[in-house]
Amino acid sequence: MEKLIIAPSILSADFANLGTDILMLNESEAQWIHIDVMDGMFVPNISFGFPVIEAIQKLSKKFLDVHLMIEKPERYLTQFKNAGANLITIHYEACTHIHRTIQEIKLLGCQVGIAINPGTPVAALNEIIGIVDLVLIMSVNPGFGGQEFIPHSIQKTKDVKSLANQCGNFRLKIEIDGGVSNLNAKDLISAGANVLVAGNFIFKSKNQKSTISDLLKLGE
Ligand code: DX5
Ligand code: ZN
Repeated sequence: MEKLIIAPSILSADFANLGTDILMLNESEAQWIHIDVMDGMFVPNISFGFPVIEAIQKLSKKFLDVHLMIEKPERYLTQFKNAGANLITIHYEACTHIHRTIQEIKLLGCQVGIAINPGTPVAALNEIIGIVDLVLIMSVNPGFGGQEFIPHSIQKTKDVKSLANQCGNFRLKIEIDGGVSNLNAKDLISAGANVLVAGNFIFKSKNQKSTISDLLKLGE
C-alpha cells in the first residue's frame, strides 16, 4: 500500500503568523499543505487568493495541494499554477465542462483532483475517475473548518475505491476533507483513503507536529 499522506489545512492556521505555521509544517512529517480557496459564491465564505498562495510557496518545502471552492475554476488555472500549486482540485459541482477543465490542468503540468460534496453521488465520477490523479471526498459541507465529520463519508470512500478499481485507476489518490481526526482516520484508511486533510484537529492541538506524526502512524 502507498504511504499515507497528511495534508494539514492552513485554513485553520494563525493568519497573523502564517509564516511561523508554514515553518512548523516544514519541520513536520506532513508531506502536503492543503490550501482552501473560497470565492463567497460556490461556498458561503471567502478565504484568500493568489498573493497568499505565493507567500506560502516562498517559505514552504512541501507539496501544495490547492482545493478550489470557486465557481468556474477554469478562469484562473494558470494563475494558480503560477502561484505554486502542485495539485489543483476543482469541484464537480462548480464546473460545467469538467472533462475539458481536467485536460487544461494537466496541460499546465499540475496534478488534477475532483472534489465531490456530501450531496453528490459517487456515480457522478463515472466518466472521469479514470483520468484524474485524485478524488477529494468532502466529509463536511464545504466552506468552514471545524465542522462535524459526516459518518457516511466512510462508505463513500469504499465506493470511490471500488469505482477506481473497476475503471483501472489503481494509482488514484483518495483524499478526505472535513472533520478528520483520530476518531475516524483509521476507518477512513481501511476504507481506501490515502490522503487525509486535517485543519482544526492539527492546528488546535497542543503539539501540532506530534499530532501530524500520530495521524501518519495510523497508516502504517
Ligand atoms: C472546508 C475545507 C477544509 C477545512 C477542513 O470547506 O475544504 O479543508 O479546512 O478543516 P477541518 O479539518 O477543521 O474540518
Ligand atoms: Zn479543503
